Amino acid sequence: MAAPGMTRGRAAGPTRRQFLLGGAVAGVGAATAIGIDLALTPAPGAPQAEEAHAPLNGSATVPFYGDHQAGIATDAQAHATFVGLDLRPDVDRDGLRRMMRLLTDDAARLTQAAPALADSEPELAVAPARLTVTFGFGPGLVARIARPGPPWLRPLPAFAVDRLQPEFSDGDLLVQIAADDPLTVAHATRMLLKDVRSFTTVRWMQHGFRRAYATMAPGTTMRNLFGQVDGTANPKPGTSDFDTVVWSADGWLAGGTGAVVRRIRMDLDTWDQLDRSGREQSVGRTLSNGAPLTGQGEYDEPDFAATTATGFPVIPEFSHLRRARSDNPAERIFRRGYNYDQPPVAGQVSDSGLIFVSYQADVDRQFTPLQKRLDELDLLNKWTTPIGSAVFAIPPGCDSGGYVGETLLA
Ligand code: HEM
Repeated sequence: MAAPGMTRGRAAGPTRRQFLLGGAVAGVGAATAIGIDLALTPAPGAPQAEEAHAPLNGSATVPFYGDHQAGIATDAQAHATFVGLDLRPDVDRDGLRRMMRLLTDDAARLTQAAPALADSEPELAVAPARLTVTFGFGPGLVARIARPGPPWLRPLPAFAVDRLQPEFSDGDLLVQIAADDPLTVAHATRMLLKDVRSFTTVRWMQHGFRRAYATMAPGTTMRNLFGQVDGTANPKPGTSDFDTVVWSADGWLAGGTGAVVRRIRMDLDTWDQLDRSGREQSVGRTLSNGAPLTGQGEYDEPDFAATTATGFPVIPEFSHLRRARSDNPAERIFRRGYNYDQPPVAGQVSDSGLIFVSYQADVDRQFTPLQKRLDELDLLNKWTTPIGSAVFAIPPGCDSGGYVGETLLA
């Protein structure tokens, strides 16, 4: 028998139309939607949906080539692995070019449901489940080319809240692999790491998750492990606002962006001691639907001037919402984080947190002032601790025949 609230049969799955209108194409525009529609045709060898069923999400692909790398404006997939790699000492510009060609070639194949060039498990490549692969260059990689990088491409300044661990910090190359299926992510990660093993060593690897595909309606804002609706105030992909916040217009990075990846431990064990009202005050939004404490709906504008009967601000001055919203409109970022949950150390119930990932055209101008404000005052700091931090320049996308990073390396 089906569980309460579940129906069996055809009606239970998303229709092709729902899929197109929802998660897969949110914000990417009608023209891209048509491209994705075509891309939904299963590749040879891909799981064939029976005639009577909607297409399986496993067959869905996100275009690899384009002006921007996929995996940023893409509606966030359910699973992501972030890998930080160190370059081997002898890798020069020619080596970097060879490495990026290999990576680009296999990422292009895998994301389009084709096995990698030397795929040892080709059967695992047939269900990309919206796989995207996104590459980023750390300060060390750009320094090897003797070409200037963006001035912000360096570790963030030290913050008082930081307890950074080298095993989650820095790195020369970022590979972000995301899909709605964890087996797909694991396979793609392994294929790409095999490509680069003579060029790099793995410095860190972080696995993150959101709700499984189709658990919630497409477009539902994610929840973090504090139970908070997380991502409401983000710029919306497909808008000019998003383009301004995210995409760089400078030099070899034009069409690319800056990525900040911070591993932030969330102390669920002490968060448990806080009552519901305290939890809502600490962020300035309700837990039920993420509405600001002065509103009803998730997307209502917060009213920071509203006061209680006793004259205190309804949205506290120390709340995360108040502190994270700068009066300077240039200080905005696009957040696309993932939850993590690890085995607890002895005596604890949990070791959980957020792989905080933000994209912004200029890290110094947009991200760092925000992080400074939160460092100075943010009630959430009581339960959150940054334990990893890395900054990368995400080069623009490329055309078929080209490779990611060619604007820097060519
Ligand atoms: C584990 C750590 C964190 C948690 C649990 C968290 C949680 C949240 C939540 C629940 C919201 C409100 C809903 C939303 O708009 O998304 C929010 C908003 C926001 N957070 Fe965080 N956050 C964390 C760390 C950070 C960091 C490190 C930054 C940047 C330095 C940041 C920047 C923002 C911004 C810019 C907003 C939107 C503020 C606005 O309404 O304009 N957050 N965060």
